[in-house]
Amino acid sequence: MRRLLKALAPVPVRVFAPVFAALLSLCVLAAPAHGASGAVEDGYDLWLRYRPLDKAAREQVRAVATAIVAPGAAAAAPSGSAPAPSVAAGSPPPAGRVAALPSAAAMAAGAPAATPLQAAVAELQRGFGGLLGKEPPLAASVQDGAVVLATPASMPALSGMGLKLETLGQEGYLLRSTRLQGRKVTLVAANSDTGLLYGAFALLRKAGTGMVGTDGKGGKGGPAALSALDERSAPKLQLRVLNHWDNLDRTVERGYAGESIWNWWALPEVRDRRYVDYARANASLGINGTVLNNVNSKPDILTAPWIAKAAAVADTLRPYGIRVYLSARFSTPLELGATKTADPLDPAVAAWWKAKADEIYKTIPDFGGFLVKANSEGQPGPQDYHRSHADGANMLAKALAPHKGIVMWRAFVYAHEKPDDRAKQAYDEFKPLDGTFDANVLVQVKNGAIDFQPREPAHPLFGAMPKTPLMMEFQITKEYLGYATHLAYLGTMYQETLGTDMRTGSGGASATVAQILEAGAQQGGSRLTGIAGVANIGSERNWSGSHFDQANWYAFGRLAWNPQADARALAREWAAQTFSPEPAAVAQITDMMMMSREAVVNYMTPLGLHHLMGTGHHHGPAPWVANLERPDWNPVYYHRADKGGIGFDRTAGGSNAVAQYAPGLARQYADPRTTPETMLLWFHHLPWDYKMASGRKLWDELLARYDSGVAQADELRQRWAKLKPFIDARRHEDVAVLLDKQYAEAVWWRDASIAYFQSVSGLPLPAGVKAPGMPLDYYKSLKFPYAPGRG
Ligand code: GCU
Repeated sequence: MRRLLKALAPVPVRVFAPVFAALLSLCVLAAPAHGASGAVEDGYDLWLRYRPLDKAAREQVRAVATAIVAPGAAAAAPSGSAPAPSVAAGSPPPAGRVAALPSAAAMAAGAPAATPLQAAVAELQRGFGGLLGKEPPLAASVQDGAVVLATPASMPALSGMGLKLETLGQEGYLLRSTRLQGRKVTLVAANSDTGLLYGAFALLRKAGTGMVGTDGKGGKGGPAALSALDERSAPKLQLRVLNHWDNLDRTVERGYAGESIWNWWALPEVRDRRYVDYARANASLGINGTVLNNVNSKPDILTAPWIAKAAAVADTLRPYGIRVYLSARFSTPLELGATKTADPLDPAVAAWWKAKADEIYKTIPDFGGFLVKANSEGQPGPQDYHRSHADGANMLAKALAPHKGIVMWRAFVYAHEKPDDRAKQAYDEFKPLDGTFDANVLVQVKNGAIDFQPREPAHPLFGAMPKTPLMMEFQITKEYLGYATHLAYLGTMYQETLGTDMRTGSGGASATVAQILEAGAQQGGSRLTGIAGVANIGSERNWSGSHFDQANWYAFGRLAWNPQADARALAREWAAQTFSPEPAAVAQITDMMMMSREAVVNYMTPLGLHHLMGTGHHHGPAPWVANLERPDWNPVYYHRADKGGIGFDRTAGGSNAVAQYAPGLARQYADPRTTPETMLLWFHHLPWDYKMASGRKLWDELLARYDSGVAQADELRQRWAKLKPFIDARRHEDVAVLLDKQYAEAVWWRDASIAYFQSVSGLPLPAGVKAPGMPLDYYKSLKFPYAPGRG
């Protein structure tokens, strides 16, 4: 509809009026009851839908959004350049400046903002416009009910108000219901325009959710609380970064949401309007960086034409506080024929990287830096020249340092030549390097030591490298959790890792993974902190391949801002914004989300089993696979099931991976009686008749877990069916279809796994346990040569 209006707008109304009216009435007739904007809800708007509030809420919100006052908003200078001349509270802005602001309508149609402040104003107009049915005007002076966006630079009067803005850093914000010049206003204050942008989004989140759960505890509120705001928030991590595993031909490794969002072919001339909405969505969460290309990188990305493409994306994202990074292939200069080696200690190699960094910064002045996968899964790296990871990372770091760029060096390394447990290899390689990395290097560590499984214990490197800043790497795309087809809310998984106390039972203060990330490490006068999420974003209309997968992008971003946030509260606020703020709907959707990942664990990899998925594509069950080139690619390597029992012995009697944890946790994991049952077979090989907490034998417990996973998948679809009255028809149907498929695939997982493990254990199925629907050979015969996401 918007596009239709836009297309017709420049044509004389006289000529088109009748046609237009007819089309308009058609559109209105076609609009579903819940598509409040008149458009069919297709998921494009994400959690930024801003649908009209009910009457009572509208009145309360309207009272605090009568106008927007934003000194300096019309200045076209990008942030980071000379500050806009300051305007005292209440005094009119210099003539002409307000007029220079792109209209909210233009921005809504995809026009990018030029500055974070413009983006903030446009978002407030768009957001309150949607929620209230009428856009608040941009006003030149403070008035009752206005939202005032100000920094000490744009409104010197703030300095005398005792707001303690200095505690907010460069990205934090303050929301306060207060009086300015005798007028009642909602003040959004920050030290930078980006802080104001984050504050604007936070205000809209409160208005749009009816304050559901926005206190982080799922607490009270209601729109009335919007007139009694007093909140300050600052990100606990500095680098909050998406990692796109996007290839230059627009395929996406482990992507299940269509092609890459980056239309590389058309860049730099053509800047897809989606980039602006992508930027808005990320800014709404506080994500401030994005790595544009796959960690399995190509040399081409660092050639001039591709740098120009990246620069065009960077230009679009910059006003939303987002920096661009690139994945660099370690052997780039060698492969481009510029050097004879890629040895990091070779002066010609170092000089090439230095010149390359200088070249990039000429085009992208705020370039973030490099992400590097080296000596992992066949990628080149410093070890090819008998140098260490630190030698490689530091050489790149020195090239970027003069520009304040950073290196994110991945710790996801393993080699099949090594006979040792794959779960131990990253720790073994990186721990000895603690303290040897340059100040602008972070080591990026996956949440667990194997590879983004439905459940893994926290990676032992967290807490083990006190002199090195570690960056968390979560996977948002669901490579091992049913692609975009299965509903699996990952907020609970992220929280489980972030909340793991790595010093449990070791004496002294607790150190959860979240605390370890937040503390970072002091390195040569600087302290870096960060978190990365492997994106699930693609060209599909709903961005993530399914509506519920948007929640994982959302939860990642909100946890990146505050790693100690509560997954349930985040689910609640996402559901309220994305589907409906109706409390009954929010409660039901939240419960579905909270049970969903455990359901997946139960029907795929219960009790600590892991890596049982189909070869290569990682879709569906294949616990029988034993013939792959690398032992540690085979599911049998991980479950080790035989007639005697099942599980990977990682105690001192086995691989002794437990010894990589601090003493308390190591002790806990060394004993099956103190190992959480959810991780039992990760750490222990146990006989089939091992007695579980339930009193059941391990074999019976395993079967029961598979059955409960299937029952939970069934429950998800039944719960969703009850939500029909609350959800627009299209999205309800979209989700229902996927939940049916998820249920069918849960049954497949259960049946194939039970058929296989029974063939190994030789044990009968106890009374009441249904036999698999098909013989084992049938499950083994299934092939998926065209599964998506293989890059
Ligand atoms: C997994 C994934 C690969 C990816 C790798 C990585 O192994 O299957 O596609 O390249 O992780 O994180 O580097």
